[in-house]
Amino acid sequence: MPQLSKTQRHRLVALALALALALLVSACGGDEPCPEPSTVSYRAHVQFVMSRHCLSCHDVALKGLGVRNQAPESHNYNTYSEVFARADDIQRRLSAGDMPPGGGVPSCDKQTFASWITNGKPER
Ligand code: HEC
Repeated sequence: MPQLSKTQRHRLVALALALALALLVSACGGDEPCPEPSTVSYRAHVQFVMSRHCLSCHDVALKGLGVRNQAPESHNYNTYSEVFARADDIQRRLSAGDMPPGGGVPSCDKQTFASWITNGKPER
């Protein structure tokens, strides 16, 4: 390992800090900032929450429990009407934090789903 000058060490530390900060920021918000609760709709937000966290198992295109990781075939979240019909079940599992099975949905996305219900589950 070559000796680093003091400036080089400082640059390394600054780079590491910048990386850590970037990771923190991306871990909180995902791609978009958390939407203003009163504006939440299915088309603008909820469908993306579903595709980010649920469709790897609860997708109508996945036929057979093995391919769906055992997700019940009666629960598909591809469309507005399906998510509308299952909203209470989805909300219950999101707030319990056990769906997806390992948990891990960011609080912003959970909040977005709850706001959608509060808003009367609008499509647009
Ligand atoms: C890795 C696969 C996987 C992912 C991803 C996943 N689920 Fe599930 N889901 C399951 C399995 C397996 C079950 C059945 C066991 C259970 O109910 O805990 C299930 C059951 C459910 C049920 C209960 C259905 C019933 O019959 O009452 C709901 C509601 C649900 N999931 C919602 C969600 C939501 C909302 C998401 C996304 C935030 C999600 N799941 C993501 C695998 C998954």
